[in-house]
Amino acid sequence: MLLLSSLLGIFWFVLALCFIYIIVRPQVGGAVYFETNRQDVEIIMRLLSLKSGERVSDLGSGDGRILIASAKKGIEAHGYEIDPLLVWKSRLRIRRARLGHKAYVHWKSFWKVDLSGFDAVVVYGKPGIMERLRKKFESELKPGSRVVSNVYPIPGWQPKLVEKRIQLYVI
Ligand SMILES: C[S@@+](CC[C@H](N)C(=O)[O-])C[C@H]1O[C@@H](n2cnc3c(N)ncnc32)[C@H](O)[C@@H]1O
Repeated sequence: MLLLSSLLGIFWFVLALCFIYIIVRPQVGGAVYFETNRQDVEIIMRLLSLKSGERVSDLGSGDGRILIASAKKGIEAHGYEIDPLLVWKSRLRIRRARLGHKAYVHWKSFWKVDLSGFDAVVVYGKPGIMERLRKKFESELKPGSRVVSNVYPIPGWQPKLVEKRIQLYVI
């Protein structure tokens, strides 16, 4: 009887966690998970034209594909991701690619990150957050920094280049 009620307790606990993960998480101030396809990752890398010694950040780094592409070019890359499963998956992919010395994933909301140490930032957000992101970029990024936004334009900014639906902005 005790075993049965313990099992039931665990079942309800896991169910509650799944509920939080599936229903609540995407509402927490960011974007839901869509992967950037391989061709678009190449476009992003080309638009960023990262140079040796620069640091790049992917805001909402998903499975780490942009971090990995950057690290393969010898660039220090930091991803911020709120989904713990994606944090785990991306860390695994980075370790498998032997890029742990160049690519880092932080389990943290990008709203809580000071971006002033980055030369370039990548984001694949959603319409409702782009205005707030622009204000964050304007107050934290240094002049000359690049921002690449996948799909959603940054309101009030003029892109320097656009390829497919990917925009490059220079501050
Ligand atoms: C559209 S996906 C892009 C994933 C990856 N950058 C790519 O291009 O394949 C957006 C990601 O942002 C994450 N995200 C949403 N809000 C966030 C926040 N406030 N802080 C960190 N990550 C966030 C989501 O979990 C999701 O993985």
